[in-house]
Amino acid sequence: VHTRRIFSGVQPTGNLTLGNYLGAVKRFVEMQDQDWQTIYCVVDLHAITVWQDPEQLRRATRELAAAFLACGLDPARSILFNQSQVPQHAQLAWIFNCVARLGWLNRMTQFKDKAGKDRERVSTGLYVYPNLMAADILLYHATHVPVGEDQKQHVELTRDIAAKFNNDYGVPDFFPMPEPVIEGTATRVMSLRDGTKKMSKSDPSDMSRINLTDDADAISQKIRKARTDPEPLPSEMDGLEGRAEARNLVNIYAALSGLSPEAVLAEHGGKAFSEFKPALADLTVASISPISAKMRELMGDVAEIDRILGRGADQAAEIAEPILAKTYEIVGM
Ligand code: ADP
Ligand code: NA
Repeated sequence: VHTRRIFSGVQPTGNLTLGNYLGAVKRFVEMQDQDWQTIYCVVDLHAITVWQDPEQLRRATRELAAAFLACGLDPARSILFNQSQVPQHAQLAWIFNCVARLGWLNRMTQFKDKAGKDRERVSTGLYVYPNLMAADILLYHATHVPVGEDQKQHVELTRDIAAKFNNDYGVPDFFPMPEPVIEGTATRVMSLRDGTKKMSKSDPSDMSRINLTDDADAISQKIRKARTDPEPLPSEMDGLEGRAEARNLVNIYAALSGLSPEAVLAEHGGKAFSEFKPALADLTVASISPISAKMRELMGDVAEIDRILGRGADQAAEIAEPILAKTYEIVGM
């Protein structure tokens, strides 16, 4: 039987957005206070599946670690490390490249979204990205994976890989079947300029996204400009039907305030967006400013960030190494 162990990762591909915060990091921090072992990773091997400038990648890796810490991640209660510093991730990923089937990867919607029409020109790493993600999770025998909605399909693939490995090699319980933990009211924060797309730090063309490093003016302006319809806010959930932009702003308000969306509508129903948006902007600024201030402070001492990541890598490797060794043995190596 596997004990409850959480693993999740975020790519160092630029500033964390409000979507990453509400859908992932805020949840990571809440979970470290519960009765779980929590392991969180800056996944730089994933980041280079699309081109990253080396200096920028180095900086983004430290900044993401600083963002985790600024959001309340505590290295005394969670393992925080950088993926490339624990080589077992890449080693297990190779084994999984030989377990996963081509047809499975062909069904991954994130690859289709990210590759777009340029299928022949994207890196092969982008294609096998889900196999590396499976390795990230299974290398720790993690049982639960807190992620946003967009990662659900990848966690399902991880389960398929675990099941096929266990079955092919006749080791029924070796890899656990990890479960995605997709909870809260902001599991899919949408772009403020297009309610049909998710807010993403990896989409350089979307200037409407709210970054954790934005100052109060930038945040207020982005929220003021957010696309909405002309109707006032409804006072009940039914009234959000077919109103993706309105629903998105209500969900953000709910996640930041800790209220349910129903309670937000009970309080703000009937208001025009010209009235609701400033309230949302104030709440967002109040939540984010302390984080960005703390990030700036932490980035003033990168040596300390490197020390924390180094210690985290040692702790991670201590769990990973015996699991990889056992995997090799099972495979016959
Ligand atoms: P991005 O797509 O912004 O580059 P990552 O792929 O690094 O983000 O994902 C980091 C975590 O943030 C994942 O758990 C992912 O599910 C979550 N996440 C990303 N975008 C959003 C969003 N718009 N809303 C909620 N969660 C999100
Ligand atoms: Na993502």
